[in-house]
Amino acid sequence: SKEYAELEWPIDILIAVVWLSFTFNFIMTIANRKSSHIYVSNWFFLGMMVMIVYLHVVNSLSIPVGLMKSYSLFSGVQDAMIQWWWGHNAVGFYLTAGFLGIMYYFVPKQANRPIYSYRLSVIHFWALMFGYVWLGAHHLQYTALPDWTGSLGAAVSLAMIIPSWGGAVNGMMTLSGAWDKLRTDYVMRFLIIALAFYAMSTFEGPVMSLKTVNALSHYTDWTIGHVHSGALGWVAGISIGAIYHLMTRLWHTEMWSEKLVNVHFWTATIGTVIYVVAMWVSGIMQGLMWRAYDEYGTLAYTFVESVAAMHPYYAMRAVGGGIFLLGAVIMLFNVLMTVWKSAAAGSLREARGTLPAVAAA
Ligand code: HEM
Ligand code: HEM
Repeated sequence: SKEYAELEWPIDILIAVVWLSFTFNFIMTIANRKSSHIYVSNWFFLGMMVMIVYLHVVNSLSIPVGLMKSYSLFSGVQDAMIQWWWGHNAVGFYLTAGFLGIMYYFVPKQANRPIYSYRLSVIHFWALMFGYVWLGAHHLQYTALPDWTGSLGAAVSLAMIIPSWGGAVNGMMTLSGAWDKLRTDYVMRFLIIALAFYAMSTFEGPVMSLKTVNALSHYTDWTIGHVHSGALGWVAGISIGAIYHLMTRLWHTEMWSEKLVNVHFWTATIGTVIYVVAMWVSGIMQGLMWRAYDEYGTLAYTFVESVAAMHPYYAMRAVGGGIFLLGAVIMLFNVLMTVWKSAAAGSLREARGTLPAVAAA
């Protein structure tokens, strides 16, 4: 089976239709725009759409042998290579480019000032577009893939630190000279901490792609820790900031409780850190236990011993995840109360507006 691409061919076709209609609608919206300039967020969204369609279609090419059974067009090492060319870019174009589009729009909006360097954001965009497609092989170190492909994947991964950090710094520096906003603006805190996690996971990823590090980290929970510093810290963080920002704009009101936004900020941050730290420790321990030899040259630990050793860290992960989830529930409550408050204020305004008319009648 293919990771993140397990579905059978009729579903793959439906997914392609979804992305094609999304892309077509987006391109036509851009084509009908009134201003000549296309803001960088839209470039990131477009990059995501074009690349996801391309990657999804190529990786899903298969020969159907029944309504719900097909065989991949590729086999052996080529299949693995195509799979991870898709797999890494699901991360690079969906979980990164799409959310960078969100970042480049919402950080300046919330800060109420332009992005620190527009030129840097354009460099960030093109460097990611050209760089990310070369990284897939770092998921296949020490496999039947030719050795040089892994080295190439690792080399380009290392190079990706530069644009990724350029982008993260660009977002953060939008607050340059107005750092005090972080003391009072809890939504801004979410956006900035998300950028910090983006920077952290795009530093960690290249380190993990090095063969010597990957020899330890691969198959272990370290990967899961890396995944969630990206998924919870970056992807969820930037989305939460954007949702809070949208709430106040769409309902023309402040959040029902600013204090609860702050509580959510801390639960999300602490929950993510607990989750990620638990996985780092358990991952490194797993890796070390699996490769330990005794004086006779036999493995020092059985697999089951390594599983038992993970128990406290899995409990810790559950606690971290629970705290993060609690924050999400608090957010839901706050969002519902904000809508309710705004609706109540709206009907009051309406009632006040109609009152003189009623009196006159
Ligand atoms: C320059 C940026 C990045 C590089 C070079 C990178 C590199 C890596 C490496 C080397 C692995 C482990 C491969 C293995 O041993 O199997 C990995 C796994 C993973 N990364 Fe990253 N990473 C980057 C950024 C991110 C970000 C920002 C996210 C999420 C938003 C992310 C999500 C993932 C996921 C989901 C996996 C697990 C894939 C699997 O299922 O095996 N990565 N990454
Ligand atoms: C409270 C929030 C979350 C919790 C508690 C959680 C928990 C988990 C767990 C237990 C796994 C299985 C890891 C293993 O094999 O040991 C996992 C995998 C994964 N999660 Fe999450 N998750 C959360 C949120 C998210 C979010 C928001 C995303 C994406 C934006 C995400 C993306 C992934 C991915 C890509 C994997 C597969 C990683 C791999 O196999 O390499 N998770 N998650």
